[in-house]
Amino acid sequence: MKNYIQATEWNIIEEGFDPHLNKISESIFSIGNGRMGQRANFEESYSGESLQGNYVAGVYYPDKTRVGWWKNGYPEYFAKVLNAANWIGLELKFDGELLDLNTCKVSDFKRVLNMKEGYLERSFTAELLSGKKVSVVSKRFCSIADDEIAALHYSLVPLNFSGKLEICSFTDGDVKNQDSNYDEKFWEEVARSQQGPVSYLTLRTKKTAFEVCTAVQSSVFKNDKAQNLQGAAEIRDKYVAQLAVLELVQNDRVDIYKIAANLSSMNYATTELQQAAQQAIARACAKGFEVLLQQQQQAWENKWKESDILIEGDVAAQQAIRFNIFQLNQTYTGKDARLNIGPKGFTGEKYGGSTYWDTEAYCIPFYLSTAPAEVAKNLLVYRYKQLDKAIENAQKLGFKNGAALYPMVTMNGEECHNEWEITFEEIHRNGAIAFAIFNYIRYTGDESYLQQYGLEVLIGIARFWKQRVNWSADKNKYVMLGVTGPNEYENNINNNWYTNTLAAWCLNYTIEAADLVKTLAPQEYARITEKTKLDTAKEFEDWKNIASQMYYPYDEQEGVFLQQDGYMDKEQVLVKDLPASERPLNQKWSWDRILRSCFIKQADVLQGMYFFEDDYDLETLRRNFNFYESRTVHESSLSPCVHSILAAKLSDEQKAYEFYLRTARLDLDDYNNDTEDGLHITSMAGTWMSIVEGFAGMRVRNGKLKFSPFVPKQWKSFSFNLNFRGTTLRVKITATEISITNHSAQALEIQVFDRYYEVAQGEQSITYQLCV
Ligand code: BGC
Repeated sequence: MKNYIQATEWNIIEEGFDPHLNKISESIFSIGNGRMGQRANFEESYSGESLQGNYVAGVYYPDKTRVGWWKNGYPEYFAKVLNAANWIGLELKFDGELLDLNTCKVSDFKRVLNMKEGYLERSFTAELLSGKKVSVVSKRFCSIADDEIAALHYSLVPLNFSGKLEICSFTDGDVKNQDSNYDEKFWEEVARSQQGPVSYLTLRTKKTAFEVCTAVQSSVFKNDKAQNLQGAAEIRDKYVAQLAVLELVQNDRVDIYKIAANLSSMNYATTELQQAAQQAIARACAKGFEVLLQQQQQAWENKWKESDILIEGDVAAQQAIRFNIFQLNQTYTGKDARLNIGPKGFTGEKYGGSTYWDTEAYCIPFYLSTAPAEVAKNLLVYRYKQLDKAIENAQKLGFKNGAALYPMVTMNGEECHNEWEITFEEIHRNGAIAFAIFNYIRYTGDESYLQQYGLEVLIGIARFWKQRVNWSADKNKYVMLGVTGPNEYENNINNNWYTNTLAAWCLNYTIEAADLVKTLAPQEYARITEKTKLDTAKEFEDWKNIASQMYYPYDEQEGVFLQQDGYMDKEQVLVKDLPASERPLNQKWSWDRILRSCFIKQADVLQGMYFFEDDYDLETLRRNFNFYESRTVHESSLSPCVHSILAAKLSDEQKAYEFYLRTARLDLDDYNNDTEDGLHITSMAGTWMSIVEGFAGMRVRNGKLKFSPFVPKQWKSFSFNLNFRGTTLRVKITATEISITNHSAQALEIQVFDRYYEVAQGEQSITYQLCV
């Protein structure tokens, strides 16, 4: 765990330069706008440890899989989130001496991520080996107001010398992925040119043939006077540059601006890409850096109006939740139903592929409440569009009749994860996708989603479960063999309670959804049954049968649902008895030892109890929580938020708060020693859930909002904004009161604990301690 980020309410601040922390900071200070993003790499040359990262949404490379023993059904490739052209590059030489913070003496170093206004700023003084001192301030952002545009302002002053400054402002596409399986480079050049002040570089990915055109206009000013730039003499493949040579007198000020447009063939025909880039760069340059920045500030102000959480009385917690919300909004904006939320977003390469069950199980609630309904809807439509591929994927594994198995990891609907125990066995992801449809409709009331998209997906998923179970004569029940639950610390298990529960729920929900569509939109129902060739009588009967006769492992002695068959055969040791020196297990123990142990990586049975909480009374929840919490090591960042929400439901406020802390500052404090690989973007949505579903106890039941709040004793109050069915609300919770401001004309009936209140336009305070 590290503790070098200063706690302030709106800014992430690092003061002093420690090269050992640089890769961690590159992740933490990442910027993005849903369409592109980058790690906080330095603009000037840096020969120290760094993970260079520029990413363009949806653009990936199918890197050839590396596995020992090839098995039938294995995916051909492991998708790589591609490191793309670096447009911020500045090579700066003072009388021939390179500015490189790895070789200079650095003082007054400060890096600030301004979350309120959406930009990254860095300042420092560097003393070169020759003794020359330069002070630098740089500011950059990826515009969320115009998501094809990014901009940089780099300003420097020679403090104690006069001399020659050579500036090489470049775009470098000759980049690699650190996680390339065969050390291969993934890009090839299509075109490069210099047209007036703008450099163009168009690159194409090998195999997938995505094209990305990066257009950059560089301009240089000395004491506010424009300077000449010319094409660089040394021009190489996948690289464009412009040079300026300036004679500087001590204390002159040099301002370098780079305005970039990054466009991909996701959005333009390759034949039109360069022209579109020309238009984008002209549009941005006509505004200039300062106007673009103002628009960025305005756009972020609007984003915060929708999604901010205000915490009074705890600055570290305030900073942390804003950081989580900021990064989520930088990663996904919901404008494009082909995009999704990668576990590392635009902050690192790890995890390849953009879409995991994380999106449906963890991210949907955040976007549902903090953005217009289309945003969460687009995440669902993404899966609808990939239904054919999910059916193909299931066919490859031997399933028939339109059964759909969504991939564990994907970019375009094809499976691109290659560990058999995950690809073939971690099939619970199918259930999370169905649950997200239910969750979206429960929140928005938009039942028409079923007829438009949802029902077809549910039918494919139900067909999969039908074929995935088998009848056990021994147990006289349906069983599901050879699966991996959310707990990846054991594979190839039989009857994972969570997966069986989810499968049965999916079968019932699909029938319910079909009935609803039949009633609400009979013609659509006819279209869908025809399209999917659904034999309603036979298939519904089969599904009902399976759902009602599913086997659920249970331990009578402990009174708990059993994570899987045989779990009690394991030596039962508790996490509290594990020596600290042996944790995290995944770094200290052999995989074999982990697999045989009773330790659980992340919420599994408890994930199911979180999804279907209304099916269980508090005592059942308490027994299961106590049993599983004491065996869970939370070695997935997705885990503590579920435990936090359940602890809150069980009125264990202290535990709820402790789990919350584990998710909230996970990356800022580098809890798991892995922030340098990138941020844990999807678990950030879990942090939001811990506050809104945990501390505020927010639920949607019978089409109405319900709250069962408390305030952690470390805080004075907390407030958050919500979009709910056409209304926008501000909810503030103190130790005794919940006040709800309804910003819309439409009145809402809201439940607080078990009482109902009519909340008209304006503010209403409810003393909730009286309702408990
Ligand atoms: C977790 C998975 C998760 C993946 C990506 C893994 O460590 O066990 O549940 O989908 O990370 O976040």
